[in-house]
Amino acid sequence: MRRKVRHISREREEKLKDEDLFEVVEEVFDAATMGIVYKLYQRKVLKELKGVVSAGKEARVYWGKGWDGRDLAVKVYLVATSDFKKSIRKYIEGDPRFESIPESNFRQLIYAWAKKEFRNLKRMRGAGVRVPEPIAFMGNVLVMSFIGEEGYRAPLLYEAEGDLAPIYEDLQKQLKLMVCAAELVHADLSEYNVMVWQEEPWIIDVSQAVELSHPRALEFLRRDLENLSLFFSKRIGLELPQELRGELEECVKRG
Ligand SMILES: Nc1ncnc2c1ncn2[C@@H]1O[C@H](COP(=O)(O)OP(=O)(O)O)[C@@H](O)[C@H]1O
Ligand SMILES: [Mg+2]
Repeated sequence: MRRKVRHISREREEKLKDEDLFEVVEEVFDAATMGIVYKLYQRKVLKELKGVVSAGKEARVYWGKGWDGRDLAVKVYLVATSDFKKSIRKYIEGDPRFESIPESNFRQLIYAWAKKEFRNLKRMRGAGVRVPEPIAFMGNVLVMSFIGEEGYRAPLLYEAEGDLAPIYEDLQKQLKLMVCAAELVHADLSEYNVMVWQEEPWIIDVSQAVELSHPRALEFLRRDLENLSLFFSKRIGLELPQELRGELEECVKRG
């Protein structure tokens, strides 16, 4: 299944100037976010923002191009609503890496959130988990490798067609690497945060992932496993093996 994201016309593309970088974003970005995107452009991280891949409540993801022509995914955390603040508090509280954020400064909280996703991606990738390659972050903007090609994002697990058995097997390996090697619990894992690209699962959306020492790590892990188990049992009649669940819980308890 392929989905073309909205993009500016080829004609416009050809006469792309500095200010055109903002063409697709100006309605939703505040001045500070525009400044950050522009800085990423000046620093030669990002050459073009080509279209919206996903417009969520908390973040937007754009298809972009690097100066080397590489496809990029640019995730922009929206300057947030109080809903967003509520939804991220439970992950930030109890994580020693993020406890020093002044509550009053909400922009700083969002910046910390983007930084957290960048760091979690790095740490997972370092442990061999198949996640997008983190390339840069600045303020509320995170730049990573694009999963898909030519602006066609890969399907999410729930949209994927074809044989899901190899994905089910491989995802179990990814879970072991994430929990037992990277020592992180995703905490929002489901068929909506796994992409399937070239017949392999890619885990995405890791901003809320917590360390094993987080007071709710075990609870989050069980919920993640339950979500995936339910999905696979519906789709291919297989739950996640009890043995795997035990092994992962052991890693959390030891961590
Ligand atoms: N690296 C990426 N490459 C291609 N598409 C991506 C990438 N990261 C996210 N997406 C797309 O953007 C959507 C939203 O991204 P996600 O990180 O899940 O944020 P959220 O769910 O918080 O809005 C995903 O469901 C996926 O379709
Ligand atoms: Mg998501």
